[in-house]
Amino acid sequence: MLRAIAGILGIGMFVPEKVLTNDDLEKMVDTSDEWIRTRTGISERRLADPHQATSDLSSKAALMALEDAGIAADQVDAIIVATMTPDMPFPATACLVQHKIGAHRAAAFDLSAACAGFIYGLSVATAYIESGMYSTVLVIGAEVLSRVTDWTDRSTCVLFGDGAGAVVVGNINRDSGVPRIMSVSIGADGSSAHLIHVPAGGSLRPASEETLRNRLHYISMSGNQVYKFAVRIMGDAVLEALSGMGLNKEDIDCYIPHQANARIIESAARRLQLPPEKVFLNINKYGNTGAASVPIALCEAKATGFVKSGDLVALVGFGAGLAWGAAIVSW
Ligand code: UT7
Repeated sequence: MLRAIAGILGIGMFVPEKVLTNDDLEKMVDTSDEWIRTRTGISERRLADPHQATSDLSSKAALMALEDAGIAADQVDAIIVATMTPDMPFPATACLVQHKIGAHRAAAFDLSAACAGFIYGLSVATAYIESGMYSTVLVIGAEVLSRVTDWTDRSTCVLFGDGAGAVVVGNINRDSGVPRIMSVSIGADGSSAHLIHVPAGGSLRPASEETLRNRLHYISMSGNQVYKFAVRIMGDAVLEALSGMGLNKEDIDCYIPHQANARIIESAARRLQLPPEKVFLNINKYGNTGAASVPIALCEAKATGFVKSGDLVALVGFGAGLAWGAAIVSW
């Protein structure tokens, strides 16, 4: 039997309405619009309202992706929500999304790979499709990072934002013209897990008065070390995903990276010798939205015509774990 081919049938995104600008942050911590823009490329980010949780953002992005694909929610076989900010420790946010969008038939689970989570989700969905186990899988990357951001820590609070992106992955015909997932490569290095983490709130350090007092439920990051790792891995992961397909970096038409820092993206693109016109950037509007950043960027790249039919697209993510992943899609 011929192996099924996985493709991207539809794509969607959602960001909350509320905008937090660099000027707003100047009033909260000792920072400046100039520092944030020149060091990160970020001008503003979106923040969820108090009543909005990750499942709400996820559901909106998912419904847009299903509409784009022309697929009804009850046709979905599985829902994967990649997130590090689930609504609650359990049940899985994916189960809440299943109910909210009416995908009654779908299996549903969360996937924890931080900012690489969407690419990890894509690898699982691709394997489900290619094995013949499922024919329609919803992969969502979604975060409400504002809830785990320490708004008194200027070294992290200027970086993050909230949002969600989603794709419908399905079984396609080779000549259908639907974007085809050619390769996905994922990896991790747990020896550097301490470089970016939320120290408390899990089984190691459950919530207590002491953990609250010491602000251990917020993101803690060694920015410089993560920066160096990111520049290296964003090139290496793409080369790994290209290898074995007889393709090399010159074949890439569009590079759609995790939007963590514009300087990281530019350095990684230089290492891959990719000209700036092949590199998609929208970090100025949304900041770092964790697992949501790659699908949001892909959605906007498609909507603006940056990604066109026939393009070879490289998606790449990296983050806490440390974990990374890259996917090559023939659009
Ligand atoms: O999603 C994946 C995970 N995260 C990342 O990929 C983030 C990776 N790291 C980065 O993007 C960068 O390291 C940061 C943007 C976090 C920091 O930029 P940097 O150029 O590495 O700055 P730095 O940490 O070396 O700090 C330089 C200076 C310091 O002052 P001194 O010691 O030189 O006097 C900081 O205290 O900038 C200071 N600083 C700030 N100043 C104004 C740090 N944060 C701020 C701020 N506003 N918000």
